[in-house]
Amino acid sequence: MYNNLNVIVLAAGLGTRMRSRVAKVLHRAGGITLIEHVLRAAIQLAPAANIYVVVGHQSEEVQQAAANFGVRFLLQQEQRGTAHAVLTCREALGDDPGDVLVLYGDCPLLSADVLRRLVDAQRDSAAAAMVLTTGAVDPTGYGRVLLNADGSLKAIVEEKAATEEQRRIREINSGIYCFDGPKLWSHLAEILPDNPAGEYYLTDIVEVLQRHGHSVRPLHWGNASELLGINTRIELAEADGVLRARKSRELMLGGVTIENPETATVDLDAVIGADTLLQPFVQIRGASRIGENCLVGAGAIVEDSVIGDGVEIGPYTLVIKARVEAGARVGPFARLRPESTVEEGAEVGNFVELKKTRLGAGSKALHLSYLGDADIGRDVNVGAGVITCNYDGRRKHPTHIQDGAFVGSHSTLVAPVEVGQGSYVGAGSVITDEVPPDSLALARARQVIKEGWAKRRRKEP
Ligand code: UD1
Ligand code: CA
Repeated sequence: MYNNLNVIVLAAGLGTRMRSRVAKVLHRAGGITLIEHVLRAAIQLAPAANIYVVVGHQSEEVQQAAANFGVRFLLQQEQRGTAHAVLTCREALGDDPGDVLVLYGDCPLLSADVLRRLVDAQRDSAAAAMVLTTGAVDPTGYGRVLLNADGSLKAIVEEKAATEEQRRIREINSGIYCFDGPKLWSHLAEILPDNPAGEYYLTDIVEVLQRHGHSVRPLHWGNASELLGINTRIELAEADGVLRARKSRELMLGGVTIENPETATVDLDAVIGADTLLQPFVQIRGASRIGENCLVGAGAIVEDSVIGDGVEIGPYTLVIKARVEAGARVGPFARLRPESTVEEGAEVGNFVELKKTRLGAGSKALHLSYLGDADIGRDVNVGAGVITCNYDGRRKHPTHIQDGAFVGSHSTLVAPVEVGQGSYVGAGSVITDEVPPDSLALARARQVIKEGWAKRRRKEP
């Protein structure tokens, strides 16, 4: 944490090159929004009260995405360029803002470490500003860095304004700056929109400061990929790939086996215990927590869910906002929808769907079932093809199946209904009334046999 440091994050632009109706900083890499990535780094340098996010496009959604950080938001009504965006903060920061770190909200690979180096370098130098630069393999779209003979910054030339020769320069502006605050405020308003885009470019501050006898220094950073700015969906996919590869490596070092790690999609906030095995093409999304010693089968998707130790999730199973307790087995091809719980040691088999349903410890629903709004006790057997009819066309109704009950295959439980403890429901029953404990319920037509009927039929002309 630094004293005397204010941080400005620019996040007002739409991001035209994304070709999206959604503001750029709301797009996700590694499962979290770009703005959150930047704030996770920034919050390690300065208290939330010293961090200002400039919002514009979809300002409410952006504020919502960043709400947890407790930072301040300032509205840039019209997006007239990065210098104009910084100027929006002037009043809020006051005349003596100390050092001002400016970041763009579209740099999701940024680390707090880079930012600390920049602030330290600025504080150690006599320069009015320090600009983080790097060598890009493909500098297209970035501002190019021009140096003076003494190694200080001469200018940053934006792609659109650059000459053929300048475009060949590989050293680029990362868009991360640390300013001597009072000097920034003294001269920021001198920037003019005299470029092909008609925008107020923050990068012009380099020349403005020099005009007043102040120097601006570059801080070269070797790892260009950390400074990647997202302008297009191609760059978004690149950042996403970097973040996910990083996450997979972290998990593997922590004891998780990942088969074909390049196919795994694990969001940054997911937690996975040691000796768990992920088969190819799994997706672990959101803030899911998976215990130790689990197996997650090929193509399974686990989202915002809690999975206990020793759980087996079969291939192609969906677990969305659900809970699977220790030793339980679900899938292959099962679907657990929100607010479902599969308790300890219970089993859910193929083509079984649970919605807002508790399947008690040791209970089994192994084939072809829909269990919705159901509370199912322990050691219950739910036969193949059992359906809870939870919806009457207007309202949803609950089904209760008490401990130890046995529901025969292809039974239909018309909710609201209760199946008592230890009772049996005969296969193929349509249950509309309460089944008392320890009873047998049969609710189906009796079988009729007509001896010799088929033989006679075959003789008919
Ligand atoms: C900018 C830099 C460029 C640098 C690159 C690094 C300028 C003029 N150019 O270009 O030198 O190499 O970043 O990634 O600064 N924004 C606002 N309000 C505005 C305009 C932009 O808040 O009026 C925000 C955007 O939401 C975005 C950030 O500022 O988060 C940068 O804007 P963007 O249009 O992406 O700048 P680049 O063209 O990438
Ligand atoms: Ca950008």
